Amino acid sequence: MISLDDVSKTFDGGATYAVRNLSLDIASGETLVLLGSSGCGKTTTLKMINRLVEPSSGAVRVDGRDVHEQDAAQLRRHVGYVFQGIGLFPHMTIEQNVAIVPRLLGSSAAQRRARAHELLELVNLPPGEFAHRFPDELSGGQQQRVGVARALAADPAYLLMDEPFGALDALTRDVLQQEILQLKDRLKKTIVFVTHDIFEALALGDRIAVLHEGRLEQTGTKEEVLGRPATPFVKDLFGKPARQLEAYKGLL
Ligand SMILES: Nc1ncnc2c1ncn2[C@@H]1O[C@H](COP(=O)(O)OP(=O)(O)O)[C@@H](O)[C@H]1O
Ligand SMILES: [Mg+2]
Repeated sequence: MISLDDVSKTFDGGATYAVRNLSLDIASGETLVLLGSSGCGKTTTLKMINRLVEPSSGAVRVDGRDVHEQDAAQLRRHVGYVFQGIGLFPHMTIEQNVAIVPRLLGSSAAQRRARAHELLELVNLPPGEFAHRFPDELSGGQQQRVGVARALAADPAYLLMDEPFGALDALTRDVLQQEILQLKDRLKKTIVFVTHDIFEALALGDRIAVLHEGRLEQTGTKEEVLGRPATPFVKDLFGKPARQLEAYKGLL
């Protein structure tokens, strides 16, 4: 599991905090959604889990061990990361993009190809059709699938996903949300998924952690955040689009 214990992060010597006194446990096998508006500290929180950002105070543990005691490269193989924005290398083919980590790990060309093709199958991009294309020859949704395949390449136990579907149209987003749910069931990954979209949070999260200005407002199941909001902020967040939320009434 992943645990954040009273974690804070300031980028300006303490004048302001991107994340403040955040404590959160993510259980093995669950999908935890970090939900909040732009600038509330979601990306910073995610990056502290795999040491792309160092906390100013507090401890982050993965599998019970402080991440600072773990080798950063090893940690990042164990904790896959899908970046905000797609971030594929434009001059590399889809196969090469997916095989970046296996290449860094020293796999042979044949092993890398086999792994890349297996992963492309997994994310519903038939390798015969897609492996040799370049990123700009794919739609946004297809590129995002490649980003997921790439993050899965070293078979990480954990997957951190930073607004992976933020730039996609609503229909493509729905399809990819369903695919992520299926992948999660098949592969038994633990997922931390960042979004600013409350419907995406409700669709994907086993639990939802609501962040506001760097602070955790509430962590709970959808039933809890919808039915028993812990703070006025959470109440307001889920209350505003109340009419659209009619569809979720069955959950309450
Ligand atoms: N590398 C950085 N240097 C300075 N400030 C940063 C840096 N990264 C993030 N911040 C600031 O921290 C706050 C939280 O940012 P971020 O975690 O990216 O929010 P979110 O992902 O929720 O939009 C913002 O005010 C942002 O400007
Ligand atoms: Mg962000």
